[in-house]
Amino acid sequence: ILIGFPLHSSKPLPYDAEQAGLKDRIVIKFSHVVAENTPKGLAAERFAKLVHERLSDRVEVQVYPNGTLYTDKHELDALSRGDIQMIAPSFSNLTSAFPSWKAFDLPFAFPNQQAVDEALQGEIGKQLLGELTNANMRGISFWNNGFKQVTSAQRPLIHPEDFAGQTFRILPSEVLEQQFHALGAEAVMMPFTEVYHSVVRGDVDGQENTISNIYSKRLYQVQRYMTISNHGYLGYAVIVNRSFWEGLPADIRHELELALAETTQWNRKLAQQLNDQQLNEIKKSGMMTIHQLTVKERDEWLKKLAPIYEQVEQEIGAPLLAQIKSLRH
Ligand code: LMR
Repeated sequence: ILIGFPLHSSKPLPYDAEQAGLKDRIVIKFSHVVAENTPKGLAAERFAKLVHERLSDRVEVQVYPNGTLYTDKHELDALSRGDIQMIAPSFSNLTSAFPSWKAFDLPFAFPNQQAVDEALQGEIGKQLLGELTNANMRGISFWNNGFKQVTSAQRPLIHPEDFAGQTFRILPSEVLEQQFHALGAEAVMMPFTEVYHSVVRGDVDGQENTISNIYSKRLYQVQRYMTISNHGYLGYAVIVNRSFWEGLPADIRHELELALAETTQWNRKLAQQLNDQQLNEIKKSGMMTIHQLTVKERDEWLKKLAPIYEQVEQEIGAPLLAQIKSLRH
């Protein structure tokens, strides 16, 4: 992929848009930071393809992957300004502007994907998306990636003491910072596009991410140890520029909503499959020593992490936290 070129621009359009009098086609620039072979990368492409099939004479979705257009640090502002029309940042990127989203960064808050889905598809999801309307944005869907695992170049991460003295890259979220501090480690907030090089340079010892991000960005080749901890959830809010979206002809907006709903369904099935498949690839490569966190070890981590819940409760309010906790059945 050439830097700055939309993903599917190399595929020929069925006809010359200008010649057909369609130069006023609506363009949706969809910027994201991950690789193409990830749950978000593939969902973005899928959405672009559905729109191309159904509305090619009127709308074009241009997908910019790998942070080639904007990194996660700048994509929210770019969307609010209307320089791009669609993004799907991970929840952690929203936490400083919209504190309720911190609930999803709490370690071990969700036992499985089903509990996450229950939260997102119910009242909690509605509340969180509703909060985004304040900044000329509109949250319109959730896409899944999956649970995060933790990796290190230094040593296996099994007991809380193993974290001591190590520095981990985190997404820009205070909860994640508190999480690593509680485990006795340092944490550095950094855009996703910088993670690989920081790891290679040794600026950080480790990081946490989903298997698909660890695999597609080749982090498994530069991190020796991985613990399958499933300690945190990484999901995406699909967000559009509100004035753009509300200014669309109603029939087009309706078609786009249908295509998005279909893409969301597809993404839900794909995310788990892709993470499982790519974990197998990592195992096959033999480049990492992988440890599966046991229940007893998880409880050791949880003991250290418990105070974070009290801190976050003050910021997001007791009712939201109680709702999240009730999902652990
Ligand atoms: C990260 O920065 O680690 C992730 O948010 C990247 C992504 O969008 O999945």
